[in-house]
Amino acid sequence: DIGNILTDKSQPSLDKHEFEELAERVRVGHERIAEGRENNEFGYAALNLPETVDSDEIRRKTDHFADSDAVLTVGIGGSALGAATITTAVGNDEVEHYVLDNVDPEHTQSVLNSLDLGKTAVHVVSRSGTTAETLATFLVVREAMDDAGVDWTEQTIVTTGDDGPLRTLAETHALPALDVPDNVPGRFSALSTVALVPAAIQDCDIDAFLDGGKEGAESLSPSLSDCPAYAYGAVSYALGQRGADMNVMMPYAERLEPFSEWFAQLWAESLGKDGGGQTPVRALGATDQHSQLQLYRAGPRNKLVTFVRPQETANVTIPETDIDELSYLGGSELGSLLDAEFEATEASLATAGCPNVRIEIEQLNEQSLGRLLYDMEAACILAGELYDVETFTQPAVEWGKRAARGLLGESEFEEAAAIAEKNRHI
Ligand code: PA5
Repeated sequence: DIGNILTDKSQPSLDKHEFEELAERVRVGHERIAEGRENNEFGYAALNLPETVDSDEIRRKTDHFADSDAVLTVGIGGSALGAATITTAVGNDEVEHYVLDNVDPEHTQSVLNSLDLGKTAVHVVSRSGTTAETLATFLVVREAMDDAGVDWTEQTIVTTGDDGPLRTLAETHALPALDVPDNVPGRFSALSTVALVPAAIQDCDIDAFLDGGKEGAESLSPSLSDCPAYAYGAVSYALGQRGADMNVMMPYAERLEPFSEWFAQLWAESLGKDGGGQTPVRALGATDQHSQLQLYRAGPRNKLVTFVRPQETANVTIPETDIDELSYLGGSELGSLLDAEFEATEASLATAGCPNVRIEIEQLNEQSLGRLLYDMEAACILAGELYDVETFTQPAVEWGKRAARGLLGESEFEEAAAIAEKNRHI
């Protein structure tokens, strides 16, 4: 629902004429996207994943891990956030999913200490197969398994590209391995082997998740008014151009907290280029009403707030009490309270003229989540067309990766030399 940004009240807003102009640009953007998909071009190929992913192969390769008590993802960025989003939103708590996506030694040690390593499946994921954080963490995990007398080759599954050190490791030890799909950048790989392995080990319905993606693919159309994904990408871009250079992602569901993190990477890394882009902010309703809402309503007019709200949720009844002042709560439900909080926040922003968009999901399940992630990817790709940037590259991230490896002495990277030069002057 983009109604709250199409009114005069909203600052910034879009008037009828601007909306029509935008609709024309969306039509052109859609043609480019359709052509990219047709040729399975780099990046655009992500929008074909629901059709091209072999879910049987994922199940076959993960069958061996069906009795695991836990699954541990070792990966970072696009190789970790999709998996965390899926298992937190629709996963099965009986098989706990842990993610080691940071080389913080204390956290790594504490996760490893908490696991029964003999009953833990380890999914090591790296598209490039060279990311230092991922490889270093895996070496630590592997040694912990050795120390615990666990045969790590029996517990490990790898997802990576055609070559690189991780592929070599998988081949040397005959580990079960899956391919990262061709032409799909990390942050666009949630509907693929990269993110679906832990979900499959948790026995989630990965076909329903991909069906949600297919539904998203079928909904792509050149008409801004008929295509929710493009409408979201287009209005985010247009408001960004009019001063809303921050995008607050605020789901009203605890299970969608990692979704905001996934969205933040998608939006920041894809669109933050050539001096432009929109800074994503992670928020959670209702919790952040009590910390950030003051700023969103009364602070600088540089934000678009995006609400995501599942309509149907499990419910918990609020007990009756004999305290008169609380009688309005007793007998009601936590879900109704959350709904009221959401509607109050949306109205509070709308009445103050703060632009906001509502994304409504009937029920949060595998299918609706697949649709949500697919639509957000399509929105981002469309926004990239409108910003006219290279949506699928991340030169700033690669600079940092090379510099870190250079500083650790891997080989002569000019980025590391630049840091050494800077340090010389401190
Ligand atoms: O989206 C991206 O391309 C990046 O965020 C990568 O996913 C991240 O840097 C990890 O890279 P890799 O999968 O090669 O280890």
